[in-house]
Amino acid sequence: MIIRKMTDADVKSAAEIENLCFVHPWSEQSIKDEMDKENSVFLMAFENEKPIGYVGLSVVFDEGYMGNLAVIEEYRRKGVGRMLMKELICECKKLSLAFATLEVRDSNTPAVSLYKSLGFDEVGRRKNYYKEPLEDAILLTKFFK
Ligand SMILES: CC(C)(COP(=O)(O)OP(=O)(O)OC[C@H]1O[C@@H](n2cnc3c(N)ncnc32)[C@H](O)[C@@H]1OP(=O)(O)O)[C@@H](O)C(=O)NCCC(=O)NCCS
Repeated sequence: MIIRKMTDADVKSAAEIENLCFVHPWSEQSIKDEMDKENSVFLMAFENEKPIGYVGLSVVFDEGYMGNLAVIEEYRRKGVGRMLMKELICECKKLSLAFATLEVRDSNTPAVSLYKSLGFDEVGRRKNYYKEPLEDAILLTKFFK
C-alpha cells in the first residue's frame, strides 16, 4: 500500500470512493473545489495502483478543517485509515497548523476511536447536525501548538 498526494487525475477516483462509503457523498466538483484551495492537503491510498481510500483537509490561515476520510469496505481494518491520518498529521505539522478539526457522527465508532487514538479530543457537539438518520455531530480537534 502506498499513500501519495492527490492530483487532478485522482479526483474521479475520490468521488467513486465517496459514493461507495457515504449516504451523502461529495461530488467530483466539490472535491476538486476543496482541493484547489490554497494549502489544502488531499492524500490517496493505493493497493497495486488501485485507489482504496482518501482523506482531505482544507486550510484557513493556520487552521485545518478535515473533510472526509474513507476507505473502501474490503480494505478496512488493515491500517489504511490510520496511515492516511498519520500522513495527514505530518502534513499539518509541516504547514505549522495550530490545529486540525473535524466532525463525525456520534455513532461512528470506528472513526471516533481512530481519531481519538491519534490525539483528537472531543471539543464540542452539534445537536441533530446530521440527517438520515438524524444524529449529533461530535467535534474533534487535535492541537499542534
Ligand atoms: C473510519 C474508516 C476510515 C477507518 O478506516 P480503516 O482503514 O478501517 O481503519 P484502520 O484499519 O486504520 O483502523 C484504525 C483504528 O480505527 C478503529 N476502528 C476501525 N474500524 C473499527 C471498527 N469496525 N470498530 C471499532 N474500531 C474500529 C480502531 O481504533 C482501529 O485501530 P486498531 O486496528 O488498532 O484497533 C473506515 O471505517 C471508513 O471508511 N468508514 C466509512 C466512512 C467513514 O465513516 N469515514 C469517517 C467520516 S468522519
